[in-house]
Amino acid sequence: MTVLPKPAPGAPALRIRDLRKTYDNGVQALKGVSLDVQPGDFYALLGPNGAGKSTLIGIVSSLVNKSAGEVSVSGIDLATRRDEAMRQIGLVPQEINFNLFEKPLDILVNYAGFYGVPRAQALVRAEEELRSAFLWDKAKVMSRTLSGGMKRRLMIARAMMTRPRLLILDEPTAGVDIEIRRGMWSTLREINAAGTTIILTTHYLEEAENLCRNLAIIDRGVIVEQGPMKALLAKLDVEGFLLDVEGALPAALPAIEGAALSAIDDHTLDLDMPRAMDLNRVFAALGEAGIRVRSMRTKSNRLEELFVRLTTAGVGAADGTAQPEPEPVA
Ligand SMILES: Nc1ncnc2c1ncn2[C@@H]1O[C@H](COP(=O)(O)OP(=O)(O)OP(=O)(O)O)[C@@H](O)[C@H]1O
Ligand SMILES: [Mg+2]
Repeated sequence: MTVLPKPAPGAPALRIRDLRKTYDNGVQALKGVSLDVQPGDFYALLGPNGAGKSTLIGIVSSLVNKSAGEVSVSGIDLATRRDEAMRQIGLVPQEINFNLFEKPLDILVNYAGFYGVPRAQALVRAEEELRSAFLWDKAKVMSRTLSGGMKRRLMIARAMMTRPRLLILDEPTAGVDIEIRRGMWSTLREINAAGTTIILTTHYLEEAENLCRNLAIIDRGVIVEQGPMKALLAKLDVEGFLLDVEGALPAALPAIEGAALSAIDDHTLDLDMPRAMDLNRVFAALGEAGIRVRSMRTKSNRLEELFVRLTTAGVGAADGTAQPEPEPVA
């Protein structure tokens, strides 16, 4: 039976102070990141490619050496009590990293064994985890034969084998179709509801908006925004809609004070308006102009807007892959 070290009462699930990482090739992946994740939280770590998310997760899970800064997990300092801190964490890394020639059941049982869970107990847990990952019928097949989505779910099941207090997932749903992704969301919600703190990185902002209560947006190794999801979304004062209208649009569109209206095609309108503005006023003006709205949808994910506004994602790759201007030839 593994005995988890007692976390310091009242300590954050994860506390990071002025974390810095410079890789051997000189890349400064983290330039002084500080954040707290409270116990029980569902926390999103967002940022464009190359922002430093995996580096941060790598340091927290002891796979990458930090250059400077402090990390503690449930009040346990990673530098001085590494093994204890590690026992609090379940990691689902960005790349699939189990042995494809092993069977899911063996992968889970061996993993738990590595962390000191006795075999009999590990077998019971493995069945539980494989069932909740909808993989029990695949327990004894070669993992190589699992689909991409099944492999991702197996990674989550494996991380849960040690009953971690903090589950960290680095893009767990990358390349997974929407149905399986939604299935994974409910799995993660259940894990969180049962008391496990979750930190998630994702490029699907809709996913973060759906699942997470707090978030940090990181760009080029620096946190550019952090706080409750709701508070950040409320900062966005403009909302965009696409309106499908009945019949063809008139030649001249009505002017609506405070809002911007334009035609995308014969029967679709693009509307930008302040969040505080009354939609009924827009509909009244459209009705007067003989335009009947058949349906409407929000133009883009709001978190996406915030993200693009705050990070370099909107202006090209942040990882240095954007081509510099060629030097003028003398
Ligand atoms: N082992 C390494 N050696 C050198 N540089 C690295 C190494 N790993 C990452 N980097 C660099 O550090 C920066 C941050 O990379 P990191 O993988 O942390 O980004 P990320 O936010 O996880 O990006 P993605 O969304 O693409 O996964 C990038 O510029 C990357 O090229
Ligand atoms: Mg990454």
